[in-house]
Amino acid sequence: MTAKQWALAPWSWFLPAPPHGGQGTPPGAAGAGAPSGRDACGHRPTAGTVRFEQVGKTYPSSAGPVRALSGISLDIPAGSIFGIIGRSGAGKSSLLRTINRLEQPSEGRVLVDGQDLATLDEQGLVLLRRRVGMIFQHFNLLSSKTVFDNVALPLRVAGVRPDHVRARVAALLDLVGLRGKADTYPGRLSGGQKQRVGIARALVHAPEILLCDEATSALDPQTTQSILALLRDINRRLGLTVVLITHEMGVIREICDEVLVLEKGRIAEAGAVWQVFGSPAHDATRALLRPLEHGLPGDLQERLSAHPVPGGASRRVLELHYSGAGGLEPDLARIAAALGGTVRLLHGGVDRIQGHSHGRLLLAADLGGPDAAALAALNLCHHARELGYVPDHA
Ligand SMILES: Nc1ncnc2c1ncn2[C@@H]1O[C@H](COP(=O)(O)OP(=O)(O)OP(=O)(O)O)[C@@H](O)[C@H]1O
Ligand SMILES: [Mg+2]
Repeated sequence: MTAKQWALAPWSWFLPAPPHGGQGTPPGAAGAGAPSGRDACGHRPTAGTVRFEQVGKTYPSSAGPVRALSGISLDIPAGSIFGIIGRSGAGKSSLLRTINRLEQPSEGRVLVDGQDLATLDEQGLVLLRRRVGMIFQHFNLLSSKTVFDNVALPLRVAGVRPDHVRARVAALLDLVGLRGKADTYPGRLSGGQKQRVGIARALVHAPEILLCDEATSALDPQTTQSILALLRDINRRLGLTVVLITHEMGVIREICDEVLVLEKGRIAEAGAVWQVFGSPAHDATRALLRPLEHGLPGDLQERLSAHPVPGGASRRVLELHYSGAGGLEPDLARIAAALGGTVRLLHGGVDRIQGHSHGRLLLAADLGGPDAAALAALNLCHHARELGYVPDHA
């Protein structure tokens, strides 16, 4: 395929390399990193899978060994967007960095598409790093080189022909929305634009996996949204696996399919985002999710009391939870009918995650209706509790 043809068919060129070089393989990297598992048609249904088997990591330090990871066994499915969360020091970066062997496990194995990374020699490692791209919080761009040269560098190092480099970099800059910025230096770019350069550079070798360690942490919320949209777009169009670490739970909720919660180097829980966020089973997860919770409105909190107001009219405050399970949606008419009397919505915070309703409603209801547990028994919510009482006019 000529450079011109590549430029005309940019999407196919971004796909992971087919066997024995050919259309997706950058010249000079023929067959680079071709994983073993292919079906009879040459498709790679498993390209981009990661398997951790009993992975442990201990760092030596002057103060004694630091245990960063213990007994991590987990699969990351090909083509998914997989989030890793946990408190600071939980081991997130240590785990992520084993996927491109920036870190080697002290115990256990890491397999990419079935290949044990511990068995790679120097050349195997070079090929692995082409299959696994990475972007960083602080972009890691060379300030003395233009946008074009930053993205072109890994191709030049790989010995790719200049005309192919030109076509490839142009197509990548188009992909990340930086057409026209090829000759600009990083110092003249916004944070979001710098991260777009980082993403383009990470994609030069058409990787199967993209690792993102806090890739949006240095960006404002609006720019974060645009980078997330770009990552999701790349995931969908190119089918590559995205593994991302973030402290922003909204990011996980927004784009991840699955999430792993690490706590002190161990798996606290893992699963589909809607399940883990809808029914967090571990204290660490609940603590991480607290910023997403809609707290009680301040005025309501002030007026809330543990008992009905003596001698005055009071209303009960009920909190109804939706965990996303079973397709259950808040049905206000049925809830009002079950509670009877007048029901007022005090506060609503129900989001949809991967098509599942998740969150809670705060309602003020007349005294004397069915208790909170009855609402869950009637399948009106997953879980309900009484928070207290407010004066009738609240
Ligand atoms: N090179 C190293 N040498 C010694 N200890 C290390 C090294 N790298 C990480 N650690 C320690 O390993 C543990 C896990 O670190 P890691 O960077 O993986 O956590 P993290 O979850 O990414 O944290 P953060 O959210 O702050 O980035 C921490 O106790 C850390 O201090
Ligand atoms: Mg980290």
